[in-house]
Amino acid sequence: MQEKIIQFLKESDGYISGEEISQRLNMSRAAIWKYMQELRSQGYEIAAVPHLGYQLVMCPDKLLSYEIQAGLNTKIIGKKIVVMDMAASTMDEAFRLGMEGCPEGLVVCAEAQSKGRGRLGRVWTSPKSKGLYFSFVLRPDLPLNRLAQLTLMSAVALAEAIESVSDLRPLIKWPNDILLEGQKLAGILTELRAESDQVKFVVVGIGLNVNTASNQLPPGASSLKVAEGRSFNRTEIFQTILRSLEKGYLKLLHHEFAEIMDEWKKRSATLNKWVRITDSAGIIEGEAIDLDEDGALLIRKNNGLIIKKSAGDVFLLR
Ligand code: BTN
Repeated sequence: MQEKIIQFLKESDGYISGEEISQRLNMSRAAIWKYMQELRSQGYEIAAVPHLGYQLVMCPDKLLSYEIQAGLNTKIIGKKIVVMDMAASTMDEAFRLGMEGCPEGLVVCAEAQSKGRGRLGRVWTSPKSKGLYFSFVLRPDLPLNRLAQLTLMSAVALAEAIESVSDLRPLIKWPNDILLEGQKLAGILTELRAESDQVKFVVVGIGLNVNTASNQLPPGASSLKVAEGRSFNRTEIFQTILRSLEKGYLKLLHHEFAEIMDEWKKRSATLNKWVRITDSAGIIEGEAIDLDEDGALLIRKNNGLIIKKSAGDVFLLR
């Protein structure tokens, strides 16, 4: 019911009378008044003027599943959205729901995380209500060796979404760091459940620094607010990202990975650079020359030998 009232308030150009809301929702004016009080306690600023009615002055900077879903229009990603005030990590919540058999496309987001994590055991700093921290469950019919495609697709979708809501052009550092002038703006983490080389489900986690102030960011990181000098509406950005992820996911399922790869390459901060890459096999240096068809990075060493890396940590040297 609250959702309907907010929708009326948002749609009305100016004041909307208590009488009109009570008629449209078939409930007493006293009940409407009670709902308005509840909404105010959630942070909505609602003006009430005798003989005129109610007007929405300000929405709280809070992620609400029904606000995110309003007008989202996706068929898979975000059909169900769970919003938590605090999670240890949305990865764990989404993984648990994946194990319980949740439908594909379920999204879990949190206003804050106490144990947000990144690749290679790193911490993902998640200050309350400043960023977008979410994970979603996919059940693609993909063999394990095509999974890197999902991560690259997510990076392209995220970069495109950021570009469409700002004046920024983020680049992608292989495999999936989103960078702005060399500073990390967002990261993607992919975890999965597989059985005999076939993916059961995948959890993709995205952390994006949105309205995070510079003193809340770890060294080497940036936020949309720091980069553009203004605050952003997190709900709108969230919707844009979910739509963009869905578009990319459908392309992937329709075997249009080459198109995604082209986009990735156009936004690459890694290709044609000298890199040092570390993984469990050790450290190598060379020129990042290309991606192979599965999304692995090809590095040409000084001796001309070309090495393929499917995972690892990349340092850009020059
Ligand atoms: C990385 O850059 O290493 C990946 C960072 C991924 C962070 C997101 S925030 C939402 C989700 N929950 C987590 O604990 N991690 C991911």
